[in-house]
Amino acid sequence: MQKILVWDWPVRIGHWLLAGAFALAWLTSESEELRLVHVLAGGTVVGIVLFRLLWGFVGTRHARFAGFVRAPGAVVAYLRGVLARRPVHAAGHNPAGALAIVALLVLGLLTGATGWLTYNDSFANLGGEMFEELHEGLATAMLAVAGLHVAGVIVGSLAHRENLVRAMFTGRKFGEAGEAIAGARLWAVPLLLGWAAVCAWWLAR
Ligand code: HEM
Repeated sequence: MQKILVWDWPVRIGHWLLAGAFALAWLTSESEELRLVHVLAGGTVVGIVLFRLLWGFVGTRHARFAGFVRAPGAVVAYLRGVLARRPVHAAGHNPAGALAIVALLVLGLLTGATGWLTYNDSFANLGGEMFEELHEGLATAMLAVAGLHVAGVIVGSLAHRENLVRAMFTGRKFGEAGEAIAGARLWAVPLLLGWAAVCAWWLAR
């Protein structure tokens, strides 16, 4: 195996922007004065997640859901391999990591949607405290899954003796030459950033 390019630019930029926007939204969630910052950060999360869902169908090989989402049996088999210290290496996401990723994308969308319903007076009145409580519960669940995700990244890095965090910056992991992606699709980054900005503005307006 050799170092090959597996993560394109939209995956990498989207990832770190998502992590940053989620952290900012969490840190500003209790403050009345920083409400607009919170809503803009949450809108950015929604924009990135929506882009990522589309990219999961039209993106590069290892970004596609068909390339990394696996049945529960494969997740269990992978985790057994980790416990037995014989984990099967994946050029892209491993089956257990993929599960956390899908959960984070779904929770990101639901947290954003309930946040918008809470923020929007006409809907907030309809739902009473319900949307707000749902929003808080979903955000807490997302924080818990993000914690599990980071723990999984650390365990995966140790199990495979490969720095997965650095790979999310460089885009390069160990793999067979034939598993590399052909291009990093830098041209899609302005689309991602523009779309995330539009979503943030639209949700906060
Ligand atoms: C400092 C904290 C974090 C670190 C070090 C980190 C690291 C990573 C790494 C290394 C991967 C690739 C995993 C693999 O090789 O299969 C990844 C993927 C991912 N992470 Fe994180 N992560 C962090 C925080 C977050 C947060 C807070 C979120 C969501 C709110 C998040 C969402 C995701 C998603 C959605 C992917 C899939 C990327 C894609 O395929 O587009 N991460 N993360």
